[in-house]
Amino acid sequence: MDNFTFCAPTKILFGRNTIPAIAPQITAHGVQRLLVVFGGGSVRRNGVYDSITNALREAGIAWEEFWGVKPNPSLEQVNAGIVRARAFEAQGVLAVGGGSVIDCGKAIAAGVFLDDYWAFVETRKPVEQALPVFAVLTLSGTSSEMNEKAVITNEPEAKKWSISGLCLAPKVSVIDPQVQAELPWKLTATGGIDAMTHVMENYFRGRPANPESGFFREETQLQINEALLRSIVASLNELQANPASHDARANLAWAACWGLNGMTVAGLSGGDWTSHALEHALSGLFPHIPHGEGLAVLFPSWMEEVHSFAPDIFARFARNVWGIQYDSKDAVSVLAAAREGIAATRNAFSGWGAPKDLSHWGVTAEHVPVMVRNAFSYRALGRLVPLNGEQVTRIFTRVL
Ligand code: NZQ
Ligand code: ZN
Repeated sequence: MDNFTFCAPTKILFGRNTIPAIAPQITAHGVQRLLVVFGGGSVRRNGVYDSITNALREAGIAWEEFWGVKPNPSLEQVNAGIVRARAFEAQGVLAVGGGSVIDCGKAIAAGVFLDDYWAFVETRKPVEQALPVFAVLTLSGTSSEMNEKAVITNEPEAKKWSISGLCLAPKVSVIDPQVQAELPWKLTATGGIDAMTHVMENYFRGRPANPESGFFREETQLQINEALLRSIVASLNELQANPASHDARANLAWAACWGLNGMTVAGLSGGDWTSHALEHALSGLFPHIPHGEGLAVLFPSWMEEVHSFAPDIFARFARNVWGIQYDSKDAVSVLAAAREGIAATRNAFSGWGAPKDLSHWGVTAEHVPVMVRNAFSYRALGRLVPLNGEQVTRIFTRVL
């Protein structure tokens, strides 16, 4: 097991009717003037807006509203938010929405201390200073409510790049699963798939410690990750059959929150994260593509590309997530199980309604070289197996 540092400092208020409790938490952090960041308006329809503004009013907090953050938020929106936060002299940021709104709120919180937000992103340095961030989550998937990352798209340059830093982790986040009760199935499924891929990006770095006994070097972490994956699968299946299930909604929300809060990577050498880099290249070029749907197409293709380099962990995944049995002493059986696990993953994603290929969004072979170049411009690809341009081209082309 590799050395690691684990720090997840966000306080979570979880459960029914917890939204008003955010206001005293904000004042407890000394914040009296707040920029409140919203998306396109779903919060007006489900009562979240009223409950937040009533609570802020009661707590005596002055606030300025910044509306219209779109899915895959843009640099343009971040820059507009920074101007608003400065003009209002905001002492903190409250983001109310899904991952896009929370990421935009974090970027604004950091940006008020920067001369040029994008120039800073290009330095790839950790963020050292930001206004305190608070969040009310309305769509589970990204774990942005409990992590230190924000992903923003520079649309003219087709670059969807992240910043990170401990100061970006929300001080307090509210997760009230009730506010997700009316989510369209497509958004529920997309969030759940995204959360699964966060766990999987880390999981496949697991290495056998003792081929005889089947014990892995990161046994504890792999078992935790498998439990999270099985719970997300079970919760999605339950919600697909029974959309009103509060328990399934709550379990999905909690599992997704843990998917990318720093815990699932412990001891796993930073995870792999190729599929996310490729998805960011995809939705950086086509910002209308939902992040989780892009991953549903690309992740199984990455698995196909690399599974033969680490068949033991892929076979273990097949058995412990999808119930596929094999003989761990027989290399042929291990490889066959690894492949069945990939098919089971792809079938589950498409069974939940995710697209199966990139042509669904009009992506063609001529876009592939641009996406490959963009993906490599962010960083080298492939920690499990270093990947070259030909392999990455194949990952995209296989699912055209
Ligand atoms: O804008 P509104 O009107 O709120 O509608 C949103 C949006 O259209 C809607 N929605 C949210 N809550 C709802 C609701 N509709 C009805 N009822 C509710 N309760 O859902 C739509 C999608 O929202 P969005 O925030 O874009 O989705 P998601 O949470 O999947 O966030 C995706 C963004 O997060 C980034 C992605 O790249 C993408 O930009 N990620 C952030 C990460 C992080 N910070 O750690 C990691 C992830 O891997 C990911 O890259
Ligand atoms: Zn993701």
